[in-house]
This record gives sequence, C-alpha cells and structure tokens, in this order.
Amino acid sequence: MPEQPKRPIFADIVAARIGRRQAAAGLGLGAAAALLSGTLGVPLGARMALAAGAPSTLTFTEADHAIGAGLQVAPGYRADVLIRWGDPVAADAPAFDPHALTADGQAKQFGYNNDFIAFMPLPRGSTSSDLGLLCVNNEYVDAQLMWPGIPDLKKTRNMNRAQVAVAMQANGHSVVEIRRRGGHWRVVAGSPYARRITATTPIAVSGPAAGHRRLRTAADPTGRAVLGTFANCAGGKTPWGTVLTCEENFQFYFGGDRKMSGQADHHERYGLAKTNRDPWYKFVDRFDIGKEPNEPNRFGWVVEFDPYDPHSTPIKRTALGRVKHEGAATWVDGSGRVVVYSADDEEFQCIYRFVTAGRYDPGDRAANRDLLDTGTLSVARFEDDGTMRWLPLVFGAPPLTAEHGFDSQADVLIEARRAAELVGGTPMDRPEDVEVNPVNGRVYVMLTKSRKRKKSATDAANPRGPNPFGHIIELLPPGADGGRDHGADDYRWELFLKAGDPAVAEIGAAYHPALSERGWLAMPDNCAFDARGRLWIATDQGEDQPKNGIPDGLYGCDVDGPGRALTRFFFGCPRGAELCGPEFTPDGRTLFVAVQHPGEEKGSTFDAPVTRWPDFDADTPPRPAVVAITKADGGPIGD
Ligand code: FEO
Ligand code: CA
Ligand code: CA
Repeated sequence: MPEQPKRPIFADIVAARIGRRQAAAGLGLGAAAALLSGTLGVPLGARMALAAGAPSTLTFTEADHAIGAGLQVAPGYRADVLIRWGDPVAADAPAFDPHALTADGQAKQFGYNNDFIAFMPLPRGSTSSDLGLLCVNNEYVDAQLMWPGIPDLKKTRNMNRAQVAVAMQANGHSVVEIRRRGGHWRVVAGSPYARRITATTPIAVSGPAAGHRRLRTAADPTGRAVLGTFANCAGGKTPWGTVLTCEENFQFYFGGDRKMSGQADHHERYGLAKTNRDPWYKFVDRFDIGKEPNEPNRFGWVVEFDPYDPHSTPIKRTALGRVKHEGAATWVDGSGRVVVYSADDEEFQCIYRFVTAGRYDPGDRAANRDLLDTGTLSVARFEDDGTMRWLPLVFGAPPLTAEHGFDSQADVLIEARRAAELVGGTPMDRPEDVEVNPVNGRVYVMLTKSRKRKKSATDAANPRGPNPFGHIIELLPPGADGGRDHGADDYRWELFLKAGDPAVAEIGAAYHPALSERGWLAMPDNCAFDARGRLWIATDQGEDQPKNGIPDGLYGCDVDGPGRALTRFFFGCPRGAELCGPEFTPDGRTLFVAVQHPGEEKGSTFDAPVTRWPDFDADTPPRPAVVAITKADGGPIGD
C-alpha cells in the first residue's frame, strides 16, 4: 500500500490556507511552518532584518554572493587549498610546469577538473577524521586554459597529439593520502596508497554485459578488459569501503562515422557524433566509432575500485546500466540489500535505482565485493499526484524483448536509455546527484536545469518549461524517517525547492520565504549531508554564471522544521568555476570541496584567463583544486 503523505494534518491545513496549487508547487512542510510562524510573504527588502539564519539551524553569516577572482567562505571559517591540478600524486612525480606539460608527468600528478570527492578514513573501517585517503574524480580538461592557442572550450578540435595524450592522463581519478596536524590538512608525500587511474588504466568488466559481443573490440576480443575510465563526474562510496566513480559525458571524446558502426541510432542516443569536443578520435583509433564501433559501449558505466589496495584493478559494474551517470549513492536497506541511486545527466533523461539480490555482510568484506553484479535495475516514473514507481529493466519482461531488439539483459543494460524510455521512465530536467539523507532516509535529487523543456511538456516533477535554474525533489520511500524501505516499488515524492532568484517573479522560484538576498541559488548539481542531516547544495551554472551574476558555490539548509528549504550561502567559487564533491569528514569538522574549472568563461584563455586562482602567479594559469574548509574554532561545520 502506498505510504500516506507525511504529517498529513499539518500539510492539509497549509494546503487549505495557501491554496492547493501553491502547496503543490513545493516546499512541503517548510512553507507550512513558515506560514504558521507568520514569515510567508516577507517582502524582499525586509528579509535581511530577520535574525542571522533564523529560522534555520544554520546560523553562520552568509558569504559574499558576488563573483570574484578568488573564493569566499562564511566568516569564521577557513578555506585552505589542499591539492591542485599538477601537484604530485606518485612519489616520483615531476614538479608542475604549466609551460611543459607531458603525458608521463600528468600520469603521476593530480588530474584536471576535480569533481566527486570521497574521504576514506585510515585505517580502513575506522571513523578517523585526521587521516584518510582523498579519492577525487577528474572529469575533463579545459584545454584552452592549459595551452596557448586554443580559443575556447568549445573549440578544442585543434588540440594536437601531445595535448590529447596529456588530456587522457588528466582525466580519471586521483587518490592521495592526507593527514590533519595542528588543524591543517596536508598531502602525505610518497604514500603507498597514492595512485592515478586514467584513460589508459586497465579496467575489468563484470556483471551481465561483461564479455558481450557489443563490448568486444579488436584490441579486446574478450569484452572484459577496457583501457581506462574518463569523464568521471560524481560517484559514491560503498559500505564495504570501495569507491564508485561514474562515467558521464564519455561522448565528447569519440568521433567518426556513426553510419559505419552498424549501431547508428544507438550511438546517436548517447550523443556520439562525427566530431566532438575533445579530438581523441583523431589520434587514437579506438575513439573513432567508424573504426571501432563497440568502443563507446565500454563507457558510461559505474566503476568500482578499492582505494585501500593501490594495485587493485577497477571494475566496470554493468548491472547498474549504461547511461551518462552523474553519481552513484549507496544505501543499505533494513533487509541488508544494497540500493544504489543514480541519474543520467542530460535533458529528458531518467533517474535509476539498483537493488542487489544479495545482502551486505558487514563482517565479510570479500563477500561484498561482487554484490553490485547481481540485482535489479529500475527507472523512476513520477506521477502528478505525488506518487512514483520504480519500473524494472529486466530482459524478457515486455517491452524489453526481442520484438524491440533486445536479445539479453546485456542488451538492456548497454541500451539502458532506450529501455528506460520503452518502459515509461519519466524524462527529467537533467538529473544530477541523487543522495540519501543519512538521518531521515529520504532521497534528494538535484535537477540542474532544462532549457529544452517546453511549457506544454511540464509535469509536477518538472514543473517549469523552460527551466533554466533547476529544482530539487525529495523522494520518500515508504515507512517512517529512519526506517524507510528503499527496496519498495512505490514511493512518494515532494518538490523541495525551485531555484532561481525569487525577486524575479517570472522565474517562479520557491524557497522558504525567509530567504536572504544571498540565499538564492541556480542550478543545483551535487549535494551532501552533515551529521544532522542538513542538506548542502553545490551549484554549476556553466556559461550562465556571468548572466546570473552570482558565483557558484555551496548552500546549506535544513530539510525539516521551521528552516526547511531556507538555503544559506556558505562558500563561493572563483570566477568561472563550479563547485563539486562536497564531502564531510566523519566528525563533521572538515568539509572538502572541489573547485572545478576556475576561469572557464567565454574568451578566457591560457594567456589571458579571467582569474589565476589559486596561485595568482602571472606565469601560472588557473588550476582546479580541492579545498578543505574548517571552522576557526575547530567545531563542526554549520553549528
Ligand atoms: Fe559532470 Fe553532471 O556534471
Ligand atoms: Ca556534476
Ligand atoms: Ca557539473
């Protein structure tokens, strides 16, 4: 039986008072609480008159909400650069020289465009917050900020062979050991755990699609041994201490004649084209789909690796499906099954859930290592009445049959997008992070934006068309907070907030009405929760940042109580950057964030970047970097 709406009496009162349409438009109980406490409708000019933070439990003074060359953080906090693109990872890494980049050097140095961050405590299994492994995705390169003569990120097709070779080593993932001493985090030089995973690292393939003919290539007739992972956007951590790194926009690196591939429609669905952003296909045959039509099928997966074993081979877990995975968040259900939430980050793509067949055994790490190979992948279908259902993607169950061109579960997984569309998954407004709140067990989905959605094609879960600022929805598995059933087929859902500037009525933003002038955000992308279950939202406005006039950064808010959806601006990136990878240490006293692509702006180049953060050296371009945020008094972030 579907779960009853939570706290129905309160919600009904509010619905009656503010009108059904407005109640359905979002905010759930936050709006309710605000209404009853008399703050709904506070005029903009009066907003700042409220006590700092009230009624949020987050009482920090908000950071400056203006675009600048450097970063900004709430007063009373420190933001220290921990590791930058080009800093040493391997013990024998050469010193960073931005005027003489080499593939061999880059293979030993911290990669470009840091995204997802996992802090993995040392020793393994502990809750150490002073020593651990920092596992960081490196999503792509800004060639125009790495070399002279490249005018724009969208005009990188004149990259030469040597530059492509560097880019292939700057993608992937970086692992470093870090230690906090005297309140300061430092990278441990020469750590045996340090490693790079790049576009040429040997990776295994497991699950139903491993070895399938559509994964076999001339170089790998087994279909089980891929070279590399790239376009690693967000990710996740498993309860058994491994890291999930997700392949997102893999299409940018492929080119060639789709028609020669025999899979033209299939490849088109994933955005593969004759030419694309990064011309790897010009120099490396396997990225030319006319020459190697199956190579793209080997990307778009969730990759699991064990950071505690630096010699372990990462594994592509095909049971989780092949899409442009933003991230992969895990949760152990009451039954012991492991649930993985993931989303396909593109306009009109879907949200997925994988539930393992086996059960997690906290006492047997080895037995957990292949849990992600067997289970059920489903796609989310949202209804306008606030219910939603997970629709399984299982070969043989109509319409996923030979009649529709599927010959096996491997086919269903390789073509997960087509399968999702056929069963009726709901096309969403670029779904990015999907994360489980560890305190209440609800699931939060960042929907970054959609310019393509027409007003006539809106629905309750994607209520604006076009939707240039994005929104956040909350999924409610059945059961009470703290004991929700993540394996159930039917959930409920609510709108949490609608982003954009609430001062501009046409935008249709919806937050807690006590929002300050600094509290509004645009394009939620990644998120994290602190120990109290508060939501921290990282934003990525892309090329709209100058137009919006606010920096990308991090906003915190309560998810319950009178401060629900009252977002407050905590950290701002340097100009041109987006914020990724928010990750707390177990003690909540350090918050790591990834400042990605500082200086990425139209016309900003290696020779004339709009910022040179973090070095501010006339000879050094801007460098993506991980920043460690701590409170000056050493206390928990946000308290
Ligand atoms: Fe790589 Fe969805 O951002
Ligand atoms: Ca992202
Ligand atoms: Ca992003």
